[in-house]
Amino acid sequence: MIIEPSLLSANLLNVKHDLNILLNEQIKRVHVDIMDGNFVPNLAFTPEFVKQLDESTNLFLDCHLMVKDPEKWVSFFANSGADLITVHVESTPHIHRVLQQIKELGKKVGIAVNPGTSLQAILWLLPLVDQVLIMTVNPGFGGQKFIFEMTDKIVELTQLKKRFNYDFDIEVDGGINDKTGKSCLDAGANILVAGSYIFSARNITEQINKLRVLN
Ligand code: DX5
Ligand code: ZN
Repeated sequence: MIIEPSLLSANLLNVKHDLNILLNEQIKRVHVDIMDGNFVPNLAFTPEFVKQLDESTNLFLDCHLMVKDPEKWVSFFANSGADLITVHVESTPHIHRVLQQIKELGKKVGIAVNPGTSLQAILWLLPLVDQVLIMTVNPGFGGQKFIFEMTDKIVELTQLKKRFNYDFDIEVDGGINDKTGKSCLDAGANILVAGSYIFSARNITEQINKLRVLN
């Protein structure tokens, strides 16, 4: 099981302070949300931010692109030092091509599905991906409530993964805490993204440890 803190909820006036705590806690990956104010009704992080993260830490950078027409943006994030680029199946009619593009850029490939999207939509993409991101809230904001029905979607994806012998990771994002995280792990997820649960509490270390024991 991997815990992946989402920097959207970090202390933006002192990101380095929060990153140092994560590094002390042996966190290896962070989640960087990219929002364009179009695919989702909010704005977040830029290629420059990713570049500075890449230059100042060895953390694995999982960039979650919530942008329309991601084909215009993937090279920016690849050049900025993203290690994995996740794009939404709902974000372009040419999703298969974008996944190929990410692979050609030498990066790990992720596909994300919104709560309202069925797994049928990503069936033919599964052979191409290193990670499937099941959104457990509607994307755009931190601190939203976990949509419980999504655990059934995780179970369905876990079954598909076994049936076709795929080896992608199953990541969940949105409303993850010690309780919802446990349900996701039981359903077959192996990467928990958590933003407000980790950063909005006083003690980041304590929150990480509460997720660690779920393993
Ligand atoms: C939401 C983002 C998430 C966000 C999760 O659209 O994709 O990564 O940071 O925040 P929490 O964990 O607070 O729901
Ligand atoms: Zn995210």
